[in-house]
Amino acid sequence: MTVITSVSDMREKARQTVPRMFFDYVESGSWTEDTLRANIADLSNIKFRQRVAIDISKRSTQMKMLDQVLPMPVALAPTGLAGMQTADGEIHAARAAEKFGVPFTLSTMSVCSIEEVRSRTSSPFWFQLYVMKDRAFIYDLIERAKRANCSALMITLDLQVMGQRHRDVKNGLSVPPKISLKNIIDLVNRPKWCFKMLKTKNRKFGNIVGHVKGIKDMSSLAEWTSKQFDPSLSWEDVKELRRRWPGKLILKGIMDKDDAKAALDIGVDALVVSNHGGRQLDGTSSTISALPGVLDVTKGKCETWVDGGIRTGQDILRLIALGAQGTLIGRAFLYGLGAEGEVGVTNVLQILQKELDMTMGLCGATNLSSVDESILL
Ligand SMILES: Cc1cc2nc3c(=O)[nH]c(=O)nc-3n(C[C@H](O)[C@H](O)[C@H](O)COP(=O)(O)O)c2cc1C
Repeated sequence: MTVITSVSDMREKARQTVPRMFFDYVESGSWTEDTLRANIADLSNIKFRQRVAIDISKRSTQMKMLDQVLPMPVALAPTGLAGMQTADGEIHAARAAEKFGVPFTLSTMSVCSIEEVRSRTSSPFWFQLYVMKDRAFIYDLIERAKRANCSALMITLDLQVMGQRHRDVKNGLSVPPKISLKNIIDLVNRPKWCFKMLKTKNRKFGNIVGHVKGIKDMSSLAEWTSKQFDPSLSWEDVKELRRRWPGKLILKGIMDKDDAKAALDIGVDALVVSNHGGRQLDGTSSTISALPGVLDVTKGKCETWVDGGIRTGQDILRLIALGAQGTLIGRAFLYGLGAEGEVGVTNVLQILQKELDMTMGLCGATNLSSVDESILL
């Protein structure tokens, strides 16, 4: 493939560039993958009104998320193991986001550590927290995020137990990949990926190794991780985290109006309507279907963002038209990262913005912040 014009082209290039195990990790949803498919399908079922003879010569895709004016209402979602899509992946993605002017969210389960990403970027990024049983470790992570000048904390609430992703089990997903004939053949066919990976020291879970007692090698780490996600997490725990993080707070994984009410009681700045990209509760609704119910509770009280299934700038416009005040992209930017590193993430952001801008124009809209349902059929 020579010319990349869409996120789906970027996906194809990533498929050819990234070892199968890590490409599948990105692609996977849980169990039947119904919810993963619904996120995408329900978005594309929303149709636009084609309008003509309206002056659309001056258009703006700018919007604010958390008081920051952005070139478009998009943030890079937290994604574990981005540093396995390409060497130093989190640093490349954070740099692309910084240059484009959109927020980057670093996952707890990143390969590059908070400190490393901080030292290789200049703008503050957001940090995403998983609540694990080892509370001393979690509280320390919050302090590390403060020291790294992170400008918001995003707590992910929808991973108290992990949804099974069949492909990861079948591929024997591990970091770094285990030595097996299948993996060796795969790696031999991905020489660029291997070459870059050999040049970096970042090949472990950087936020965890060296910070948790008893974690010396990757196999014990994998065991630790699977045992650490906390199934007993409650709103009382979230309150305590709120107390420890006085800055901007985002809660991610809200799909239900009762949970939205509980989140408002804690005092949040933004909520992300998210089903983890169809990777957790398979069989739940798409995020776009859940948005109206959550908005009934949150409108005027906190910012309400959505992620899941965004593959085009048109999808961003659909979500904003239906009342979202911001969006997060996961797989879309990971495809760019796997295919072309920092340049690939920049390309994806440019493609999305162009599609968003052109579609707005063809709907007769000139200012994204005043777009509403009237642009939809
Ligand atoms: C490979 C991958 C890893 C992810 N890791 C995390 C994570 O570490 N923390 C988290 O809160 N969400 C994680 N997510 C979920 C994303 O933040 C986001 O909700 C999801 O990707 C949105 O759906 P989309 O990929 O269709 O855009 C991950 C998603 C993917 C695809």
